[in-house]
Amino acid sequence: IQKSFVMMKPDAVQRRLMGKILSRFEEKGLQIVAVKLMQINEDLAKTHYGEHADKPFFGSLIEYITSSPSLAMVIEGEEAISTIRKLVGATNPLEADLGTIRGDFAMDTGRNIIHASDSPDSAEREINLFFNEDEICDYEIVDNKLIYE
Ligand code: GTP
Ligand code: MG
Repeated sequence: IQKSFVMMKPDAVQRRLMGKILSRFEEKGLQIVAVKLMQINEDLAKTHYGEHADKPFFGSLIEYITSSPSLAMVIEGEEAISTIRKLVGATNPLEADLGTIRGDFAMDTGRNIIHASDSPDSAEREINLFFNEDEICDYEIVDNKLIYE
């Protein structure tokens, strides 16, 4: 079982898409183990997206992510990290397959509504960056018996 860090960005919250997007993960059979609506400050945004510090879009990315609250989440399941990346779709929403979250709800790379960890290392780093251990719930969902063989 893996955990991934997922975050609905300010445009998803502003566009009132939180419920619809959360449903995608629940309907797939993944398990929500932490959720926090939070205003991300500049320091946290820069640490989270540190790998992009040298990119030309870094300034506008930080401005976007800090513009309004985001919904930070930890989501659990078998192969959760790669499964969630598939559900999220390509970085550029115009290249994202229809049926994916970005493919269905977004038009622009700079407004692509959601973030998801891209590897086990980044998942661990990002979960620890956004959540304390006691904010992550360890629980058994009864219908896991129907979701997994
Ligand atoms: P995240 O899940 O948000 O990390 O997206 P990703 O892993 O699909 O893409 P990546 O890590 O390469 O880029 C991080 C974020 O920076 C993207 O989600 C976009 O919001 C933004 N970004 C990436 N490339 C561009 C770009 O060329 N122009 C602009 N404006 N933003 C970009
Ligand atoms: Mg990324």
